[in-house]
Amino acid sequence: PIRACLFDLDGVLVDTAKYHYLAWKRLAGELGFDFTEQDNERLKGVSRMASLDILLSIGGISPDETTRLALAEKKNGWYVDYITRMDESEILPGALAFLQELKAAGLLVALGSASKNAMTILNNTKLAPYFDAIVDGTKTASAKPDPEVFLLGARELKVSPAECVVFEDAEAGIEAAIRAGMRSIGVGSETTLGRADAVVSSLREMSLDRLAEIFPSI
Ligand code: BG6
Ligand code: MG
Repeated sequence: PIRACLFDLDGVLVDTAKYHYLAWKRLAGELGFDFTEQDNERLKGVSRMASLDILLSIGGISPDETTRLALAEKKNGWYVDYITRMDESEILPGALAFLQELKAAGLLVALGSASKNAMTILNNTKLAPYFDAIVDGTKTASAKPDPEVFLLGARELKVSPAECVVFEDAEAGIEAAIRAGMRSIGVGSETTLGRADAVVSSLREMSLDRLAEIFPSI
């Protein structure tokens, strides 16, 4: 049976992509090149340093490791300025109702995020109490599509991967769920998330009934 739901954070529960975008754009501006919203799509679900490398390749520059770390630090400072001002109003539609329904039904809930800022966001949006386990970028060594983040979540919940459903908005996240041996539901577009067991456009479409419809045998 399904005993647990594992959620990605950015793009599934909260819309932080706009803040990542503003901070990366500002960094690109300081470095003397433009960074578009379309470019930003390539950074979704990608770790901080890997995101920086993509940004630098767009600008056609390759600074040394010390400079790269300083640039990532700078971007994160601006990003943290935005997320420290977040509140419940920035929870994506349908997320809270679905989390409440899962908890009421006795299902376990975990976070599986690449972000090292996940706790700040969960606390500010008051989402933290819904989670039985929180696995974020501070606890993992390998980024999605590596399954580490979700496997660690299942271990902390003391459930097997086969009993887990992952909710993800990034292709690499769906891949991570598949490699973890978990079921997955894409939140976003069918074009990029087609490998998931099902795709919904937002968590507004999710409920326990819908979950049972998608996975009738379990
Ligand atoms: C992911 C986001 O959840 O976390 C990425 O989708 C982000 O855009 C990554 O780069 C790392 O986040 P942070 O907060 O540790 O820089
Ligand atoms: Mg995401």
